[in-house]
Amino acid sequence: MTPPHRLPAAASLQFSPAEFERRRSAICAAVDRPIVLLGHRDVPRNLPAYGYPFRQSSDVLYLTGCNEAGAGALLHDGALTLFLPEAAPGDALWHGPMPGLEARAAGCYCDAVRPIAELEDAVAAALQGGAIATVAVADDRVNQQLSWWTGRPLSFGDVCGDDDLIEALCVLRRRKSDEEIAAMRRAVAISTQAHLAVASATRPGVSERALVALFEAMLAGAGLSPGYATILTQRGEILHCHSHDDVLAAGAMLLVDGGGELGAPYGNAAGYCADLTRTWPVSGRFSPRQAAVYDVVHQAWRASIAAARPGARYRAVHDAAASVIAQFAIDEGLLRVSVEDAVAMGAHGVLFPHGVGHLLGLDVHDLEAYGDRGSYPSDGARPTGFGSRFLRLDLPLEPGFVVTIEPGIYAVDAIFDDAAVRQSLGDAVDWCKLEAWRGFGGIRIEDDVVIADAGVDILSCDLPRGRSEVEAAVGGGMALEALLRVGG
Ligand code: GLY
Repeated sequence: MTPPHRLPAAASLQFSPAEFERRRSAICAAVDRPIVLLGHRDVPRNLPAYGYPFRQSSDVLYLTGCNEAGAGALLHDGALTLFLPEAAPGDALWHGPMPGLEARAAGCYCDAVRPIAELEDAVAAALQGGAIATVAVADDRVNQQLSWWTGRPLSFGDVCGDDDLIEALCVLRRRKSDEEIAAMRRAVAISTQAHLAVASATRPGVSERALVALFEAMLAGAGLSPGYATILTQRGEILHCHSHDDVLAAGAMLLVDGGGELGAPYGNAAGYCADLTRTWPVSGRFSPRQAAVYDVVHQAWRASIAAARPGARYRAVHDAAASVIAQFAIDEGLLRVSVEDAVAMGAHGVLFPHGVGHLLGLDVHDLEAYGDRGSYPSDGARPTGFGSRFLRLDLPLEPGFVVTIEPGIYAVDAIFDDAAVRQSLGDAVDWCKLEAWRGFGGIRIEDDVVIADAGVDILSCDLPRGRSEVEAAVGGGMALEALLRVGG
């Protein structure tokens, strides 16, 4: 039996020593104190020995390339000492022999590697010289240890850490190097194959669950895991719908928002991810109404791409999509104001309620662990009004930024019924006409793009986007239900 699509080989894709040297020397130039990092630990699920899938802290990946649970690091004057856990009794029996510290640190290009038990003394010695700098991670057990060392309470939710270190990490991580872009290109290429496989297996009667299984199997086969919970739904108007309980119905549209992140086979390049969305008709042909809306979303996508270039504010990229969608809403008789007024007051948000995208990198919403510090200027708070409060980025774009561009049109009952929104937009919206949209669903088109020296480099250009190419990708694949034995 031949697979529906050829998987790119999970060949090694390793960052060079120079890549880590660049990152570490830039951080040390910005922070004149010893930097102590602690990585995530294994998190127990139902039993101590059975944990959730491990995911390293992105800052630890960025500065050390180390993807091991329970690792720590001390970075000072450009030199990195990595601290790794030693094998526990019984590890060799249950998990196989553990290579020595030097072998496990090989891809991290560190200056020294020591057992993690020695980190405490190394921190105490560093503290003799004054303060140390650190950042909280998404594991408050680890943060308790960091709080003890730094003498200040640190927690993930409060975006805590050394201000200079956070600022330097934001500046550095925002601008991707050629090696980082190559890693993201790989994540996007494999995620593209997963989307295509799901499109070809789409037909009425197939369960959403079976298609999620296929999507994630395609990632796993290439050494990736989902970079975020896969969204695969006929309820595309639920922006982050995580239920997969339905069976595909003729006439419906399927929205797939999924992307993989590079896993262990990618060594010190692990963690970089893709974030792609396509919407296609379950039976292979959009209805005339679906087709018309699809084309508007595609037009909004093109307007955003045209606006994305070095120096442009990301807000302008958002407004370009919002303007196309506002014009459509005016043409449909849903809005009674000009395009300019609609975008200024956020009235486009009745159909397009989210921001046009976000930074992408080691995290799917890259740097969002630092709130808006990595994605808004220090003198410009995020807008709070309807239609723009979910805009996750508004900086002048620079070459090397990788962002998503993901306009959409949705019929969201919760918006149509929201008294505060109805009051704030008032007569600008024809609320009676909007009623006819209930049940339409949602359409989103999302691509991953690098801001280039002039314009953009679309990483996901191989994933069909034009309406007829999308339709052509649907169906024709293997009968999945039988293969996976997944019931509806
Ligand atoms: N595509 C998933 C997200 O942006 O959160």
